[in-house]
This record gives sequence, C-alpha cells and structure tokens, in this order.
Amino acid sequence: MEKHKLATRVGQISPFQVMEVLARAKQLQLQGEDVIHLEVGEPDFVAVEAVANAGMEAIQQGKTGYTSATGLPELKRAISDDYLSRYQVTVSPGRIIVTPGASGALLLMASLMVDSGEEVVMPDPCYPCNRHFLIQAGAKAKLIETKPEEDFEMDLSTLADHWGENTTGLWLASPSNPTGAVLSKSYISEAWEKVSALGGHLLVDEIYQGLVYEGEDFSALSIADDIFVINSFSKYFAMTGWRLGWLVVPEWAIEGATKLAQNLFIAAPSVSQYAAVRAFSPDVLAECEVRRQTLNARRLVLLEGLEAIGLPVVAPAHGAFYIYVDVSSVTQDAMAWCLALLEQEKVALTPGADFGIKDAHKYVRFAYTCDEARLQEALARIARFMAS
Ligand SMILES: Cc1ncc(COP(=O)(O)O)c(C=O)c1O
Repeated sequence: MEKHKLATRVGQISPFQVMEVLARAKQLQLQGEDVIHLEVGEPDFVAVEAVANAGMEAIQQGKTGYTSATGLPELKRAISDDYLSRYQVTVSPGRIIVTPGASGALLLMASLMVDSGEEVVMPDPCYPCNRHFLIQAGAKAKLIETKPEEDFEMDLSTLADHWGENTTGLWLASPSNPTGAVLSKSYISEAWEKVSALGGHLLVDEIYQGLVYEGEDFSALSIADDIFVINSFSKYFAMTGWRLGWLVVPEWAIEGATKLAQNLFIAAPSVSQYAAVRAFSPDVLAECEVRRQTLNARRLVLLEGLEAIGLPVVAPAHGAFYIYVDVSSVTQDAMAWCLALLEQEKVALTPGADFGIKDAHKYVRFAYTCDEARLQEALARIARFMAS
C-alpha cells in the first residue's frame, strides 16, 4: 500500500484561494505595510460585552463540562423564544440542535440527509464549504448558474430540469455569501413547493439573518415546518471564534439528528452556550441593531464608491456584509487581479473562484468589515490601481 496516502475525497476538496491572498497580506503587514482587509468574512465587532461577561461567569462558575448533545435547554428555549418574538414563528426547542458553528450544522445536515452517490442542487456562486461537506458524505453539489441581473437567484422554473435520479435536495442561503442577495418569502415558498413536489428536502442557511438592509428579514421556518434551517452566533452576534450555531430540523428528523450530534460533537462548546443565552436580551439586540445600521452605512458608501470608480454593482447586495463585484471590465483573471492589487495598493479582496465555477474568474468579493474611512481609502487605492 502507498505510504502516506490520504483518503480520495481529500483530493476533491479545493483549498481557499483567499488563503494565498491572506498569507501575502500578512507578510506585507509584517514588513510594516498598511493593508486594508476586505477579504475576511467576519465582522470587525466582537461579542457584545454582556454576552462576553456571561461567558466569563460560566468559566468562573465551572460551567465548563459537556452539555446535552443537542444543546443547553435554556439556550434552546432562548432561540425558540427569539423566533417567536422577532420572526413571529413557533419553533419548539426540541427541533433546535445546537452545533459548533453553522459549520457543525452543515456537517450534521450533510450527514443526516444525504447518502453516498447522491447530489444536492445549489446556486453558483455560493458558500464553498457546502460542496465540501457533501463530498465528505460521499455526495456532491450540483451548481446551477445564476446571473447578477437576476440578483443571483437561481431560476426555479428550471429546477425540475436539473433534478436527476440521485438529486435529494436544494440548499439555499439568504442573505447570501458571497453575493449579499436576499431571497424573498415568495421565492422560498416557491422553492419549497417545487422541492416538495420533487420529493426532496430544502435547506435554507440563514446565518446572516438580521443583517438585512432592504427587503424582508424573515425565517423560512415561517413557510413550512419541514424546511431545514441553519443559523449561527458568528455573524449577527459577532461571535465567530465562539463556535456556536444551530440547525432546526422537522419533528421527524429530531431523533436522527440527535444521534448524529451525539456522535459527531458530543456537545457544542459549553461556555459559548452559556454566553449565548444572554445574546437575545433586549439590550444586546439593541446593540446588534446599531451595528446593523453601521454596516448598512458602509454598504452604501461602497456601492456608491464602486460605481464612481467604474465598477458598478448590478446586483444590489441587500444583506450580509458582502458585495460581489464584476471586474471583467478590467481583468479576465480575478485572482491575478487580487494579488496585483494587494502587491501594488495593499488592498485585500477575495477572488470569485472561491465561491463558484461559472464566471467566477470575473468576480471579487468585498467584505465591508472595516469603517467608512478605511473603505473610502480602499476605493481610492483601487481607483489608482485601475488607472496605473
Ligand atoms: C453562508 C455561510 N454558512 C456557514 C458559514 C459557517 O459559519 P460558522 O461556522 O462560523 O457559524 C459561513 C461562514 O462564513 C457562511 O458564510
């Protein structure tokens, strides 16, 4: 047998191209360069103080052991109450499986719903790890082209054409990474109707829920109890490193999901769970709302600025904290463009190839995770780069 042989599926998983950008950005910073980071998909905020304090108290009180596999009962209750108060939807705590980040929820979802050899439909571009979680389950993603002039929405009238013998589900995200697109309630309802008629499952990744600037901020759970939904404390609550998310499953999948959660994770991080119980208090939500407004102001600065420097944005990016920008008027190789921009002007962006296949080489993703002054500076540098 070949020595040092890795599992075949490892070869099917592509590394993030942005890592190359990130590594070079770090090198430049070490050399004293002033790099503007617009490549990283995490908020530049930290957990709200009251939440962090609740985490510290949990440590001081020794609440650091395993919790039950599907999460602390008081956290599941708090999430359930929040669905009712902010989104007017009843979700029993028993349907909520608390996981190590939305990543844990995606892994759980792939393990729960997809058999080896099956495939799941999703829009191109989308969050890249989705495909990798499927590969991990021996399955694969079938990416369907979307267009900026259609706000990167997959054309649902063609869903049945893409649905093959081994297709078992449709995975969507709203707001979306990398496009910032927000799907409407009627779109998700139609998706659910079509997927049900085809006998498949629907997953909606709502990890950027709350970060909606235009359009309706709702949960797909208000449409049907049989829709699977993913969420996380990483983005709206700015708790990326706390590694806490959740998966909402239909009643009939609770037992299976619980069994898998026990085996895959034992439990999500306990300190994070105690902290997160505090996240739904009115004072914390009020602070998150202020942050949302800050993000929206940045979004508008960026949209206007990009237009002004000759990179108009066709799809209006109504949510999350990303804008997916077509740079094909200046390059046919977005990765090379990102690296040259970093070298010359010290602005770091994520190349589209990390998110999609079709036309990905024409796109870059901006994350507006730095303040308005830095965004203006980044725009000025990009304009100078384009003129050089
Ligand atoms: C759409 C989407 N889903 C899931 C995740 C995973 O997030 P986490 O594991 O931090 O909750 C991310 C992270 O950026 C994301 O953008």
